[in-house]
Amino acid sequence: MKFVPLALLSLALPLAGAAQSASKPQPAQPKAAAAPLVAQTPPMGWNSWNFFHRNVTEQDIKNAADQMVATGMKDAGYIYVNIDDTWEGERDAAGVLHTNEKFPDMKGLADYVHSRGLKLGIYSGPGAKTCAGYAASLGHEEQDAQLYAAWGIDYLKYDLCSFRHDTMEAQAPNDEAGQMRLMIAAYDKMGKALKASGRPMVYSLCQYGWDAVWEWGPSVGANLWRTTGDVNASWPSIYSIVERQAGLAKYAGPGHWNDPDMLEVGNGTLSLAENRSHFSMWAMLAAPLLAGNDLPNMKPEIKAILTNKDVIAIDQDKLGRQAQRVYVDGQVEIWTRPLAGGALAVAILNAGDDRVATHPFHLNLAKLGLHGLQKGKDLWTGKEIALTEGQKLEIGHHDTLLVRIPQPK
Ligand code: GLA
Repeated sequence: MKFVPLALLSLALPLAGAAQSASKPQPAQPKAAAAPLVAQTPPMGWNSWNFFHRNVTEQDIKNAADQMVATGMKDAGYIYVNIDDTWEGERDAAGVLHTNEKFPDMKGLADYVHSRGLKLGIYSGPGAKTCAGYAASLGHEEQDAQLYAAWGIDYLKYDLCSFRHDTMEAQAPNDEAGQMRLMIAAYDKMGKALKASGRPMVYSLCQYGWDAVWEWGPSVGANLWRTTGDVNASWPSIYSIVERQAGLAKYAGPGHWNDPDMLEVGNGTLSLAENRSHFSMWAMLAAPLLAGNDLPNMKPEIKAILTNKDVIAIDQDKLGRQAQRVYVDGQVEIWTRPLAGGALAVAILNAGDDRVATHPFHLNLAKLGLHGLQKGKDLWTGKEIALTEGQKLEIGHHDTLLVRIPQPK
């Protein structure tokens, strides 16, 4: 037998079974399938919390899935149907978590949602208890990740809740840096458990933006992370969240997004202008678009906002670059977002009261790096619009002018 150097032998080994004769052409070796990438654009869907809070049931989730199909939301890109807190029951002697009576059959529910071409999301946290006091994943991370995978879950929102008090503060009292290390390790643990489950799942961190999560989120496998505390259906809440996104653009990109929290479009007492501004700004911010309204009773004007394809296209733009606030003039804010193919989205948000009606805002194109006439489309009227230097713009109270300029100059 001829001497074969060890290195060559090991190279030849994978082919040894198939390569009986070197002269015959061999079929190509199947390539190892690459794990499908999730959240290459910001996730879109619906979450139960903002409308149902603790009362959500399996039937509400089924209704939401049906309505996402019937209303055209699915066609507009909304895919995830996410169950938030309060689905959890007790663990059995083997540590396996069971659902509570509101969710009698999670696997069946996943099948139901999948059969409509949608995906199912679920909720837990690194502590012993969720924010609503139900069982969370502490000490059962791998077991829970495997359970989610077996059910067919596609998305996990992982909420800090009791971990802060019971673990971080208990184990590292008066040591904020130590507490943050414990928190990051807990998020890393579930990130690894999800990966080990073998099922692609979107991993959504919910710890209210602490410790500049945008700096370390991707390292624990996160696809998105909340940047602030909870949103509510009021203008002060929406606007204060917008204000806190300035400066975060560089941390967003395909597979990893800043999350200014779920949508309140159609909830509470938000005016139509406020709903439009909320949706416009979330699209500019490359935010996850997770509707949180009562889908079976959605008003036509709310559906028109949530399914505006031009605005959704801004959010879902393939470049994945989040908007930056370019300048502020009184209570008018001007944000721009570069889009694929050299286009530009411009949002002009009037957060003020009557100022714009009494002494209009004058656009400063030069501050946006633009020169001369800019032709674009007003994404809320659907009409062509031309923007010029110093142009007088009257934008209603809490409304947003959202323009896509295909060829900015
Ligand atoms: C926290 C989260 C909310 C929601 C609730 C559920 O407050 O930030 O988004 O998930 O918990 O209890």
